[in-house]
Amino acid sequence: MGIGAGYGKVILFNEHFVVYDIPAIASAIDKKTIAEVTRCNGDAPFILHDERDATPGYKEEKLEHQKDSIMRIKKAMGIEECIEIELHGDLKAASGVGASAASCTAIARAISDEFGLHLDDDAINEIAYEGEKAYHGSPSGIDNTCATYGGLVWFVKSKGMERLTVKTPVEIVMGNTGIVANTKRAVAGVRERRDRHREKYDAIFAEAEKLAHRAREALLSGDWKKVGSLMNENHELLQQIEVSSKELDFLVEVAREHGAYGAKMTGGGLGGYMVALTPGSELQEKVATAIEQQGFYALRTKIGI
Ligand code: MEV
Repeated sequence: MGIGAGYGKVILFNEHFVVYDIPAIASAIDKKTIAEVTRCNGDAPFILHDERDATPGYKEEKLEHQKDSIMRIKKAMGIEECIEIELHGDLKAASGVGASAASCTAIARAISDEFGLHLDDDAINEIAYEGEKAYHGSPSGIDNTCATYGGLVWFVKSKGMERLTVKTPVEIVMGNTGIVANTKRAVAGVRERRDRHREKYDAIFAEAEKLAHRAREALLSGDWKKVGSLMNENHELLQQIEVSSKELDFLVEVAREHGAYGAKMTGGGLGGYMVALTPGSELQEKVATAIEQQGFYALRTKIGI
């Protein structure tokens, strides 16, 4: 049996803008998807047992994408025979936390292990990117990069990643709206609106670019108050390109009211997760509990690990 893992991720700055080659900042989180792969007999290209805990409706909504993704991964790896795949791990399958990328990386690693391919991280990342295309159409590559390499990254689509190091890992809370979102549709929506309102979107994109550089500086100097306020600004820009939702805005408000240094939607938007910066376990617990008291799932994790 072959085994492999992929990390979940949180985008701290500039999801969507990153598709247009604007820098983004993201971090892997300490939750993973694990894949186990064995060879099987028969005509089916694969047999899948998806045992991941998931937001209700997520697996059903993503099933066709998932099948397409596995076929793309197999093709990219030159595997023709039947494989049996089991997915599990402590990363809840949901929108906004890099679940699809984590599974692509995990499957690619498990196949590499089962077939003795000895692929390095760069090769796994490329294969996971192929798999991600089934979910995203034309992904920037930020999700599979986090899923494969882990850590905190500065990412530019045309240049790839640069690793960032913070002095100490910092607590965050990710609040799940429980809404399964379609990233492909969210990305297409931005493109369509940008084509119609080019001047307005160019101005927002220019703001996003400046913000990324300020955020990088604040992160590297450990100025968490500044990072939080820049996350708030980033959320406003994401609202302006219409990828937030009333549920995301509500959870962002709940987090801020309970002392988060900053909060924003994260990932594709239109549902899925938001993220709140909550340095220290006390503040993290306070914000997570407030989100839970409103009836939502809260994930307690850290960035920069
Ligand atoms: C999705 O996690 C992030 C997006 O920016 C899409 C992408 O980068 O491919 C919305």
